[in-house]
Amino acid sequence: MVIEVRGPHLYVGGLRAEDIADRFGTPLFAYDRETVEENYGKLVGSFTYENVEILYSCKANNNPGILSALRELGAGLDASSPWEVLLGVRLGFPRERILFTGVGVADEEMRFVRGELGVLVNVDSLPQLRRYGRMFPGTEVSIRINPGFGAGYHEFTTTGGLTKFGIDVSSASRALEIAGEHGLRVVGLHAHIGSGIFSVEPYARVARVLLELARKIPHVEFIDVGGGMGVPYRPGEGAFDHIGFGRTMSKIMEEYSRTLGNVKLRLEPGRFIVGNAGVLLTRVVDVKEVEVGGIRKVFAVVDSSVNHIPRAAMMGTYYEVVHASRAGAPAEVEVDVVGNL
Ligand SMILES: Cc1ncc(COP(=O)(O)O)c(C=O)c1O
Repeated sequence: MVIEVRGPHLYVGGLRAEDIADRFGTPLFAYDRETVEENYGKLVGSFTYENVEILYSCKANNNPGILSALRELGAGLDASSPWEVLLGVRLGFPRERILFTGVGVADEEMRFVRGELGVLVNVDSLPQLRRYGRMFPGTEVSIRINPGFGAGYHEFTTTGGLTKFGIDVSSASRALEIAGEHGLRVVGLHAHIGSGIFSVEPYARVARVLLELARKIPHVEFIDVGGGMGVPYRPGEGAFDHIGFGRTMSKIMEEYSRTLGNVKLRLEPGRFIVGNAGVLLTRVVDVKEVEVGGIRKVFAVVDSSVNHIPRAAMMGTYYEVVHASRAGAPAEVEVDVVGNL
């Protein structure tokens, strides 16, 4: 990992965090490209099944430098808005390696993504499939399935089970009928059931649901088991077992490929690729001491806030705070680090 504490200093990509802050000002997001590349390589390298493609989920971080680095490694893109699709196209991602997955997708958005940009749409509901079929009869489509169960670290990011996401697996046959009525070729089956998943088992279940469904469809080229591979947020937290994941998923794909042919396995990791690859550098602008009712508190007010890390406000998520210029030094005083909003 190339974000590390050496002596009293925090280093990002071999540079002292304080030097980066001095050069570019704060608040500042600083990313380490090597870490991004390493994470991508770890996931790809864990598979023995050869037909695997990673669509980086760019909602995790759409910094163009990060996207370009991943494109150069051969990644595709999981895009969740027409804008993200356009960003991918402009940055040179091959259109056939971009998949647009949305909820509540309007006709004009499909017209733009499919009609103008030529990117595959991953349809989220039966009504959307009907609308898509009327607009683009005889073309290709991918279908997002809700396998009936979710997984992950937070109810806000659980997207399987009783949620608004995808076409309920029990309605899959109806989806295939609708596709048939419009001459649509279902080339992909997709599911993303949550984020912050540390166990391999939910992915194996999802893959089997999709592969069983694939048996009923003559044109399926890929199944996509989504993202959600967990990353540690607190020191000492365990990591996602990418080796076990690659081994189990390869076994399943190899097993089914004997009867289904060489179906591609797609993955949509977001935070697994970028979660440990960046820091938000912020400076202490003010130190305030407050005493009320005999209780004293010290606040270190920094030049950033929840506008830069909204997940902290929305979901109470944890971010490790490191004193970049005295990282290794013993603590002298306990402070609350607070933002400037
Ligand atoms: C459809 C889809 N794919 C992939 C992801 C990536 O999730 P993560 O960053 O947890 O890997 C998300 C996250 O919301 C998603 O909605």
